Parts: sequence; structure tokens; C-alpha cells
Amino acid sequence: MNKLVIAPSILSSDFANLESEVKRLEENGADWVHVDVMDGHFVPNITIGAPVVKALRKVTSIPLDVHLMIENPEKYIKDFALAGSDYITFHYEAAKDNVKDVIDLIRSYNIKVGLSIKPKTQVCEIIPFINMVDMILIMTVEPGFGGQKFMQDCALKIKELKPLLNEEVIIEVDGGINKETAKICTDYGATALVAGNYVFSQENMKDAISSLR
Ligand code: DX5
Ligand code: ZN
Repeated sequence: MNKLVIAPSILSSDFANLESEVKRLEENGADWVHVDVMDGHFVPNITIGAPVVKALRKVTSIPLDVHLMIENPEKYIKDFALAGSDYITFHYEAAKDNVKDVIDLIRSYNIKVGLSIKPKTQVCEIIPFINMVDMILIMTVEPGFGGQKFMQDCALKIKELKPLLNEEVIIEVDGGINKETAKICTDYGATALVAGNYVFSQENMKDAISSLR
């Protein structure tokens, strides 16, 4: 059994000091850095794009876990791949008719592939694809903003997925993770956790990260 991956989201960090924020995460025990990319269409918010991933790649060797909350993900895979992403996760809902093509496109850059579902999307819809990817990302909030409340019923999808998945496929959970909700997810079988608001709002970042394990 692999070690649980903790992937803090820089969405809650100080964007004016991203280099030092990422280094602070590294020093305090983060395994990956989660980068939330929003386009103002797929979700009602706009964040950052490939140039920021490229800039971060120059200052850190920590794996960059890029979460694309965008329409037409196929148009931007190349940019995020060449920018230095380690994982690129796209949304099933944004690629319904070409999920397999997007998976293949990400793989063509030799990058790990993640497939994500929003709270209203059921596990049964993505079953044809679950063992084609390296990671499934279960959203436990409506994507778009940090600091929202964990939707416990969405966490049940972890339990549902687990027996259907090859052992090496990571189950990542994103949204409203804190030390209590982390425990719910890991009990159900999650193997990676994203946490934004919780990690950046606690006084001691090291304790915050280790409290998720
Ligand atoms: C939400 C993003 C999340 C978010 C998590 O749309 O995908 O990664 O930053 O933030 P918290 O942990 O604050 O819910
Ligand atoms: Zn995310």
C-alpha cells in the first residue's frame, strides 16, 4: 500500500509570493502541489494558466498536480504539458464525447493522467475509463472556489470506486478537506488528498499537513 499523498492547493496561498509559498509547502511535508486552473466557463471563476505552471516548475522539483476546471481541455493540454506538469487532471463533464482522446493526448506527452467528476456526476458514468487513467479525482465541493463545505455524500463515491479500480490507480479527493474529513476519505480508501483553505489557514503548516495523514 502506497503512502497517502497530500497535495495542498495553492489556490489559498499568497499569489504575490508563489515561489516562497511552494517552498514553504515543500519544507512542511507536502508531497505534491495542486494547481487549480479555472476558465470562467466550466466554473464561475478564473484563476491561473500554463505560464504559472512553467514559472513554478523552475523553482521547485515537487510534483505539480494540475487540475483543469476548463471547457475544451484538449486545446490546452499541450501548454500545460510543456509547462512541466507531472499530473494533468481534466473533467469528465468537459470532455464527454472525447474522454479517451484527451487521455491519449495527455499520455502522448508522457504525463500522468487524472479524470475528475463533479458532485452531481455518478461513478457509473466514468466506469469505461477508470482503468485507463493514473488517478480519479472525486470532487467533494462544487468546483470553483476554495474554502467550501465538504459534501459527505460525494465521499461515498470513493467506496464505490475502490473495488472497481486497479490497485495502482490513485483516488484523490478535493474540496473541504480538513483533519476530520480527511479521515472519512482515507477510511473509504482515498490515496491522495487536496487541501487548500485548511493547510493555509492553520498557524502551523507542518502540523496541518501531518494532521491529514
Ligand atoms: C475547488 C478546487 C479545490 C480547492 C480546494 O474548485 O478544485 O482544489 O482549492 O480548496 P479547499 O480545500 O479550500 O476546499
Ligand atoms: Zn482542485
